[in-house]
Amino acid sequence: MGFRRLVILTGAGISAESGLGTFRDKDGLWTRYNLEDVATPQGFARDPAFVHEFYNARRRGLREAQPHAAHQALARLEAAAPTGSVLLVTQNVDDLHERAGSRNLIHMHGELTKVRCDACETVAEHRDDLSTGSVCGHCGGAGFMRPHIVWFGEMPMMMDEIYAALDACDLFVSIGTSGTVYPAAGFVEHVRRRRRAHTVELNLDPSEGHSLFAERRYGAASAIVPEFVDRLLAEGI
Ligand code: OAD
Repeated sequence: MGFRRLVILTGAGISAESGLGTFRDKDGLWTRYNLEDVATPQGFARDPAFVHEFYNARRRGLREAQPHAAHQALARLEAAAPTGSVLLVTQNVDDLHERAGSRNLIHMHGELTKVRCDACETVAEHRDDLSTGSVCGHCGGAGFMRPHIVWFGEMPMMMDEIYAALDACDLFVSIGTSGTVYPAAGFVEHVRRRRRAHTVELNLDPSEGHSLFAERRYGAASAIVPEFVDRLLAEGI
């Protein structure tokens, strides 16, 4: 096959088998919570304590979760490929990719294990609970700390780097995402316009944009992602 530059996009489906819920599946987070309440700047302004409690619960859940065979396979792929040739772009705010060993990784929707001070903009590691009284370790301000998470209506992170990689890639793989949230949902279309890149969807069910992918495989991520990676490695990337 001989792919030289890969961009791999992941979504909540890759972490489902680690015990972290998805958003839109049956029992998904957005069937139990109003996303306007917990994932918008307006919701945070209205009731910061409620928003902190939502992310505190998710941070606690993440402490119990472990990466599985799909996260590990993507780390294996990166390690086997020439440095910098595999970019992993995740919509997930969990840290399971890095715990599995992925290094060239962009968290376009932020990170659950980091906080940001709205007063001085400092971003810091934070694995414990956060409250309305949490104090910034940098500027000392209290009441300005928020999860380092991209909410609806905010700009996803590192978009210039992501589009540069999409423009340069010859293989784009989308894993475990419903393809409903832009800009990530538009990446396949962006790559297809260049025509030279191969596009692959790996998911439990066909996503919103499944017909845009040249190749599609359906099943649990823990099975189909290692299979796909083994095939790439066997055929040489
Ligand atoms: P969704 O919950 O929208 O979609 C999860 C996808 O994973 C679905 O298409 C499922 O079929 C698939 N899936 C479920 N279990 C799977 C498994 N074991 N193996 C493989 N696939 C599986 O999650 P995302 O597409 O990631 O944004 O959602 C995108 C964004 O919407 C999130 O980053 C989040 C959310 O609102 C923000 O919070 C900003």
